Amino acid sequence: MSLKALFNEHPERRYIMYGGKGGLGKTTFSAATAFWLASQGKKVMVFSVDPQASLSDIFQKDIFGKGPVKIMDNLWAQEIDADQHIKTYQDEIRRKILDMYGFDKVPDEVEHYIKAASAEPAMEESAIFDAVVDIVVEGSYDYYIYDLVPLGHALYYLSMAKVYDEWINKITALREEMREYEEMVSRLKRQKETEQDQILQELQYIRGRINASSRILTDKQKTAFFFVIIPEEMILLDTQKAAGMFAKFDVPISGYVVNRVVPRELLDRSIPPYLRNRIGMQDRYLAQIKETFGSQVVSHVPELERDVTGLAMIERLSGLMFGDDGEKKP
Ligand SMILES: Nc1ncnc2c1ncn2[C@@H]1O[C@H](COP(=O)(O)OP(=O)(O)OP(=O)(O)O)[C@@H](O)[C@H]1O
Ligand SMILES: [Mg+2]
Repeated sequence: MSLKALFNEHPERRYIMYGGKGGLGKTTFSAATAFWLASQGKKVMVFSVDPQASLSDIFQKDIFGKGPVKIMDNLWAQEIDADQHIKTYQDEIRRKILDMYGFDKVPDEVEHYIKAASAEPAMEESAIFDAVVDIVVEGSYDYYIYDLVPLGHALYYLSMAKVYDEWINKITALREEMREYEEMVSRLKRQKETEQDQILQELQYIRGRINASSRILTDKQKTAFFFVIIPEEMILLDTQKAAGMFAKFDVPISGYVVNRVVPRELLDRSIPPYLRNRIGMQDRYLAQIKETFGSQVVSHVPELERDVTGLAMIERLSGLMFGDDGEKKP
């Protein structure tokens, strides 16, 4: 089935992801898909958690940490600033502590704890994850396109169960530490334990949100996950390994998109031997791709003469990717 047919026949698959090794074309395909869907009249959000700010590059617009930015009719893009989220999260904790105990300054040992907890990598992952939850549970777009980081990290985000555990552990740990602190303060103030357990309430709220979003992201009905590959030996080996891991996390794979296929028309012209050799090499791996992934290959995208940046290039690539140009060819 072609990519176009797949989208047309499965409008219920509203959460779209392109995964693959670094630099193969995930961001390019995310943007091209967003463009194509938006031109079909769908309301689309394409978003990224990559601090490398790759959507800013491709749309030629600084969108990092700015919330949803309108790119064109029906199309919005967003790049999550994890640090900004961590700061907001820290401020919330500080405010809660001040509110709960009526202090006018956060005690040093608590401040120290907040800083230490924020420095852990799990905190960044959590902040990013929380921001993703914010985007997907908001729910007003027809499509959410998640421009993923390279595979290793993507696996992490996709294994929602694991992220979920880390989140809960982190907050439970904080909760326990708070409880000790609370007891100490109660003793000092000769008060009974605070009745309202705000933190526990928040924990339940977060749990609800995470459950909702992890259901969405691993939902075989609503999610379409595509692997980006190129016709090269190492990429094929790595992709097969990765596909196995994804299967373990129950991530539904919708198909494989082959990028950077050198246009065969070039063979009719006088081209340098190295290019001819490259086409020959690609032919071998394309055959292998066909053999390995068969009907799961949903599109072949040619190598263009330059980087894909700006809406005009994105439009061109989306035409090639979704077969609009292919149909016009003799
Ligand atoms: N078919 C193509 N023709 C020409 N250039 C391409 C093509 N596909 C991708 N590129 C270029 O290759 C580079 C890498 O692509 P892209 O940023 O989409 O990869 P990525 O998988 O998102 O990388 P990362 O893992 O770093 O996020 C970009 O400069 C992009 O413009
Ligand atoms: Mg990218």
